[in-house]
Amino acid sequence: MNNFRFWSPTEFVFGKNTVAHTAQLIKKYGGAKVLIHYGGQSAVKSGLLADVENNLQNEFIEYVKLGGVQPNPVDTLVYEGIELCRKENVNFILAVGGGSVIDSAKAIASGVSYAGDFWNFFDHTVTINRALPVATVLTIPAAGSEGSDSMVITKTKGGLKRGSGSPLIRPVFSIMDPVLTFTLPANQTAYGIADMMAHVMERYFTQTKGVEVTDRLCEAVLLSVIKEGPAVIKEPENYEARANIMWAGTVAHNGMCGVGREEDWATHGLEHELSALYGVAHGAGLAVMFPAWMQYVYTSGIDRFVQFATRVWGISPTGDKKETALKGIQALKNFFSSIGLPVNFEQLGAQKADIDKLIDTLKINSGGSLGSFRKLDMADARAIYEIAAKA
Ligand code: NZQ
Ligand code: ZN
Repeated sequence: MNNFRFWSPTEFVFGKNTVAHTAQLIKKYGGAKVLIHYGGQSAVKSGLLADVENNLQNEFIEYVKLGGVQPNPVDTLVYEGIELCRKENVNFILAVGGGSVIDSAKAIASGVSYAGDFWNFFDHTVTINRALPVATVLTIPAAGSEGSDSMVITKTKGGLKRGSGSPLIRPVFSIMDPVLTFTLPANQTAYGIADMMAHVMERYFTQTKGVEVTDRLCEAVLLSVIKEGPAVIKEPENYEARANIMWAGTVAHNGMCGVGREEDWATHGLEHELSALYGVAHGAGLAVMFPAWMQYVYTSGIDRFVQFATRVWGISPTGDKKETALKGIQALKNFFSSIGLPVNFEQLGAQKADIDKLIDTLKINSGGSLGSFRKLDMADARAIYEIAAKA
């Protein structure tokens, strides 16, 4: 096990009717003038936005609103948010929505306190050293941004989708009421499931030895998602199943599953190019790219893939490690298909003919190499896109 520091200070307030605590929590964390940031229409339609506003009004907390965050959030709204916060002297940002809204809020929070262009945080020329406090009311379990120190934004010009991060942008609190996720359609639910599983698997597939506790933690999250995932698709108002999926999404990505080990993240890198080029949901792209990545790299750590097949998917070892490993990869693919996720380019709406374009932007974003389980160059990346294209 590697040395590590783990600092995850977010206060999670989980369960039914927890939105009622929003205003008190904002006060607890020093919010005086709030920006409420939200997405397209789901929070308006469900009445959640009105509930949040009433809650703030009852506690005499001033606020301004900025909606319109789109999935795979873009820089233009972040600039608008930064301007608005400066003009209105906002000192606290409340994201009401999913990963896209939360990431846009995090980008605004770090950009407000910085005199230059916030995109410098994403081209990694400047480190975030101040940010307004961010909090969330989560409406979709998926990205794990409610407990993570990272954010992903797309630069409209050039279509570059990039991540950045800092401990300073971890939400100070996140309100998580599983009832708010009852309105999620099956496809969005499934995309979220793929994303949280991917967050675990990016950490699970490591060459670091002696990480039994985190291995078992990762497996517990995966096994729970494999059990509860189909239940939430079938019964969208099954509270216990929704609650377990919601918490799984947070545990998958607040860092706990990755402590003491080297993490991979090649598949996220490969996927972000698909979201940037086609605007597909992040989880849909991951469902296509993860099995393809696995198929390409499994011989670089066959024992770990055998462990994945046997412990996560209950496959009986055949004595032939390759065969067992491949059965595990197939089981993952079958699971994704069973909950309606795409598992190849065609089902995703991606084109083999675009692989050159994907590689061009991947090269810019990754600097030409990615991953750690097996270090990949652009020829490897191309081969993995080709597997996904023909799968
Ligand atoms: O915009 P509205 O109308 O609210 O609709 C949203 C959106 O269309 C809808 N939705 C959300 N909650 C709902 C709902 N519909 C009905 N009922 C509800 N309760 O769902 C759609 C998707 O929302 P989005 O926020 O885009 O989903 P997600 O949470 O999957 O976030 C995806 C973004 O997060 C990034 C992804 O790259 C992507 O840009 N990620 C962020 C990470 C992080 N910050 O740590 C890590 C991840 O790996 C990921 O890259
Ligand atoms: Zn993800």
